Amino acid sequence: MNNTDIYIQNKLNERKSAGTYRALKTERPLTDFCSNDYLGFARSVSLKKNINNYLERHGDYLNGATGSRSLSGNTAFCEKLEADIATYHDAEAGLIFNSGYDANLGLFSSLPQRGDTIITDELIHACIIDGSRLSHANRYIFKHNNLGSLEDKLKHATGNTYVAVESVYSMDGDIAPLNNIVALAAKYNAQVIVDEAHALGVFGKGLVNSLNLQDKVFARVVTFGKALGAHGAIVLGSDMLRQYLINFARSFIFTTAASFHQLVTVKMAYEMLKESSARQQQLSNNIGLFKSLIKTDGKLIASSSGVQSIIIVGNEKTRQLAAHLQESGFDVRPILSPSVPAGTERLRICLHSFNSEQEITNLTQLLNTYQA
Ligand SMILES: Cc1ncc(COP(=O)(O)O)c(C=O)c1O
Repeated sequence: MNNTDIYIQNKLNERKSAGTYRALKTERPLTDFCSNDYLGFARSVSLKKNINNYLERHGDYLNGATGSRSLSGNTAFCEKLEADIATYHDAEAGLIFNSGYDANLGLFSSLPQRGDTIITDELIHACIIDGSRLSHANRYIFKHNNLGSLEDKLKHATGNTYVAVESVYSMDGDIAPLNNIVALAAKYNAQVIVDEAHALGVFGKGLVNSLNLQDKVFARVVTFGKALGAHGAIVLGSDMLRQYLINFARSFIFTTAASFHQLVTVKMAYEMLKESSARQQQLSNNIGLFKSLIKTDGKLIASSSGVQSIIIVGNEKTRQLAAHLQESGFDVRPILSPSVPAGTERLRICLHSFNSEQEITNLTQLLNTYQA
């Protein structure tokens, strides 16, 4: 083995002995309490038909985008889709990125400059952390959903200041107090950026629209890989922000654009979202059912979203419980440290519109026996 191989081997061994080794698993025929397919769009046969029909009607499309958006990869179709999605969300403009990771990376690495300040919730998603690290701005972290802690950081901010939050937190499933955050940021002349990844489709068009805050937040990141069952993301904001990102966001500039096929999937998923109030209601009912049946002993993190997390504590114990649930036919995954802070290792249960009453009842019965 050369030195690099030895390094790799050691790092993998470290992970194995710490119980934090990640191994990929292929699909298994288990009941889905794990995926982000909140409304069942990824598995929707009618969505698939709509996509295929649209593609057939536009048979001359290219299989691949052939280049980045700045070179050969841009299309009138993509620009129209961006404008339509922006209109749907009541935003002035939008710019599509190849993923939510790319969108946040591009936005946070390009906008804040040296001397500026980015203030993020302590539970913010890794892609916002990574984007912020790539910028030269000062970075502060405030305690989760804690306005006093946010204000402390705002008092120390310099330059243009950005407050980054998720409307629904991906691991805890709880909601940011957006009205208060927006008001507090305004007091300190800071701009708010909201990641709506886990809110779209679970709370209508997302929480910013639901709370009518679209004119008060500076930008939103809406991802297509969760309730839309597709892939990609859009940054919503002013037309000037869109132009800025086209010019400065490196994760937008230096990558091949999404294919026509991918964009059509997003277009048809948005069409379906407009007609999905029954699915959204069913999801909401399922969340209510789960919460009414689970006996948590205070271990369930308070959440009204599709993400319901039960704190177990300890990687090994959490892993064992998840394995047991999987053996019983439920796809529930353990979320271990360091993905979440040590001491908050958990079972993260994702609820969907398509989970049946029986499935939810069976799962909660099993979970309740563990806790007894
Ligand atoms: C809150 C949040 N933002 C962004 C992302 C990244 O989105 P994508 O999966 O499209 O890269 C995720 C996905 O894990 C997420 O949970």
